[in-house]
Amino acid sequence: MKAIILSKKGNVNQLKYTELPLPSIREGEVLVETKAIGINPIDLKTRNGKGVYTMLQNEDPIILGWELSGIVKKTCSEKFNEGDEVFGLVNFPGHGKTYAEFVACSANNLAKKPEEISHFEAAATSLAALTAYQALVYLAKLKSHHKILIHAASGGVGHFAIQIAKHIGAYVAGTSSIENRKFVLSLGANKHLDYKTDALEKEQKDYDIVLDTIGGQNIDRSIPLIKKGGILISIPSGMNNSVTEKASRNGIEGMKFTVQSNENDINVIAGYLQQGNLKPHISKVFNFEAIEKAHTQIASGHTVGKIIVNL
Ligand SMILES: NC(=O)c1ccc[n+]([C@@H]2O[C@H](COP(=O)([O-])OP(=O)(O)OC[C@H]3O[C@@H](n4cnc5c(N)ncnc54)[C@H](OP(=O)(O)O)[C@@H]3O)[C@@H](O)[C@H]2O)c1
Repeated sequence: MKAIILSKKGNVNQLKYTELPLPSIREGEVLVETKAIGINPIDLKTRNGKGVYTMLQNEDPIILGWELSGIVKKTCSEKFNEGDEVFGLVNFPGHGKTYAEFVACSANNLAKKPEEISHFEAAATSLAALTAYQALVYLAKLKSHHKILIHAASGGVGHFAIQIAKHIGAYVAGTSSIENRKFVLSLGANKHLDYKTDALEKEQKDYDIVLDTIGGQNIDRSIPLIKKGGILISIPSGMNNSVTEKASRNGIEGMKFTVQSNENDINVIAGYLQQGNLKPHISKVFNFEAIEKAHTQIASGHTVGKIIVNL
C-alpha cells in the first residue's frame, strides 16, 4: 500500500511517500481502506517534534494522521462487517497512522458513516469535532443558560464548537478576523468579535466559559471576560502551562485538555451528522500526492473550517 512516513522530525520535506505491506489486524480491530483523511495542527506539531512526537519517536515507521473515513476491508470485531463505511479518530493520543491507503485500528475508535454524509465530510468531523464535543460537554458541562466565548471560531475546532454550543442552546460569541465574520455568524453565533481590534477588551465581563484555541496572550485577554467561578478551557499544547495558576488567581477554573478517541462520543458525532446538527465546512481538498500543500495550508493559521486529503 502507499503510505506517507515521517523520516525524521522536521519540515514538510521529511514526509516521504513509500510502499508498505498491508497492516495486520488483531482481535477487536478492523482494516479500513482509506477514502479521506483530515489534517490538523497536531499533525504539523508532531512532524516538528512537538505534539505527540515523544510517544511515536521509537516507532518505525512513523505514520502521521488520526482522522479518517473509509471502508472496512477485513474485520476481527463483531461491531463492523466487511464493506461497512466508517469514520473516526484513530488511536488519539497515540500512533494513528492514517496517512496510508489502509489503516488497522480498534473498532471502538469508529462509527458507521451516515449514508447521506460523504467520506470527505465524515473524515472532517472526527478530531476537531470530538475536541469541541468533549471540551464543551464533559469539561465545561455547557448548558442552555450559559454564555460561552469560542476563540478561532472559524477554525477546525471552533466551527464545530459554535454548532455544538448552539445545539445545546447556549449564548455563543466567537472570535476570528473580520474576513471570517459572516462565516462565524452563519454557524449560529450570537456575536462576532474581531481579535485584531480591541473588541475583546470592550466586551462584557460576564462569560461563564471561554474555549481558548490560541494560547499565550489570548489567555490573558480572555481571563477578564469570565465571571468569578467560571471556566477557561485551553486546548493548544505546549503554550499554556500556567493557565491553571493564572485562572485561579482570578477566581476562575483553568483547565487544559486533550481529546481522546472514544466509542460513545464518535457515535454521538455520527448522530449529529445524520440529524444535521453538525455540518463540517470543508474549505479545501488536496490529493494524497500533495500532502505538503495540506500541511502548508494548516501552517498558515488561517484555515477556514477543515481541509481534507482525498485518497
Ligand atoms: N488539546 C487537544 O486535544 C486539541 C485538539 C484539537 C486542536 N487542538 C489545538 O487547538 C488549536 C486550534 O486548532 P484548529 O484545528 O481549530 O486550528 P485551525 O483550524 O488551524 O484554526 C484556524 C483559525 O484560527 C483563526 N485565528 C487565527 N488566529 C486567531 C486569533 N488570534 N484569535 C482568534 N482566531 C484566530 C483563523 O481565523 P482568521 O483567518 O480569521 O484569523 C482560522 O480560521 C491548535 O493549536 C490545535 O493544535 C488541541
